[in-house]
Amino acid sequence: MRILVTGGAGYIGSVSVEALVEAGHEVTVLDDLTTGFRGAVSPAARLEVGTYGDTAAVAALLVRDRIDAVLHCAAKSLVGESMVDPAKYFRENVAGGIALLEALRTTGVRRIVFSSTAATYGMPERTPITESDPVQPINAYGETKRCVESAITWYGRGYGLRSVILRYFNAAGASKACGEQHNPETHLIPAVLLACEQGRDMTLFGEDYATPDGTCVRDYIHVSDLARAHMLALEATDPANTLTGPPSGPCEPLICNLGSGTGFSNRQIVAAAERVTGRPIPVKIGPRRLGDPAVLVASAQRAHEKLGWEPGLGTLEEIIGSAWEWRRSHPAGYPD
Ligand code: UFG
Repeated sequence: MRILVTGGAGYIGSVSVEALVEAGHEVTVLDDLTTGFRGAVSPAARLEVGTYGDTAAVAALLVRDRIDAVLHCAAKSLVGESMVDPAKYFRENVAGGIALLEALRTTGVRRIVFSSTAATYGMPERTPITESDPVQPINAYGETKRCVESAITWYGRGYGLRSVILRYFNAAGASKACGEQHNPETHLIPAVLLACEQGRDMTLFGEDYATPDGTCVRDYIHVSDLARAHMLALEATDPANTLTGPPSGPCEPLICNLGSGTGFSNRQIVAAAERVTGRPIPVKIGPRRLGDPAVLVASAQRAHEKLGWEPGLGTLEEIIGSAWEWRRSHPAGYPD
């Protein structure tokens, strides 16, 4: 397949690109490098520096590289930031997302896999969360992803766009070549490892949640497991595959959660990081972070049944261990 990966220089995108090229696909990466890194892109992929929000430019790229399917990973994705600057999220994720869909529509590319999020569920009514549970985001980030999910759904009904929408829970870990690097670092696992490297305390945001130890609970999934799910999802958008609709005419998206089904509290993450690194990581408790649900844990039953996907690298120590390995083998991060 010839695949365009938006955000292919970012964390989840770069690991997916690595897996796609290894599987023999031809990959074009579209990334504006605002949060991604040139050095994260597999040398076997073609990198185009630019925005997915420019319909004409993306359409030209789709035609130039004779793209069969798009994996749309690019987005602004920080829950906390989305609460203080929602405009940025609506501009980039929603307006940009529609511009991308327009490029697909006008060039007749009818296959997309969309990186969505557990943040669409908001404050879940039950755990583990299934895909038919109510979608009621409590942060602007989740809301913008819900908007793009809706647009994809209606493009399917109106224009026969075949799609898989993947609601990721908490991506973590690293492949050998690609890991998680953000500036500033706001995600829990890399932030804990950074605190450990720098020999300073780790601040946890709140310990008065209705959870066993009072800190938030999340479902961590190895980024390489996500990459495998992307490949299965891209295959599912083939017109011969009825999971994403009939060969022609209106289509409905296949929506799947991607998680492990097990939740770990923020304190449990710190304790696991202490075991992996062999160093003490003292904890300080700060105020709650705006927009944080107490518990997000997936039921990944549907991804298993429909896509044949299962997380294979699931233990917390494996996930944190791979992140720690990557940091040690890339002490200065990516070269650029
Ligand atoms: N946390 C801390 N201290 C930190 C950083 C994070 O206590 O320095 C806490 C957060 O408050 C939260 C938990 O660690 O309780 C996880 O926070 P992350 O920022 O690592 O991840 P989120 O759950 O907020 O969000 C992530 C992705 C989203 C995705 C979501 C789905 O960033 O894109 O998982 O569960 F939608």
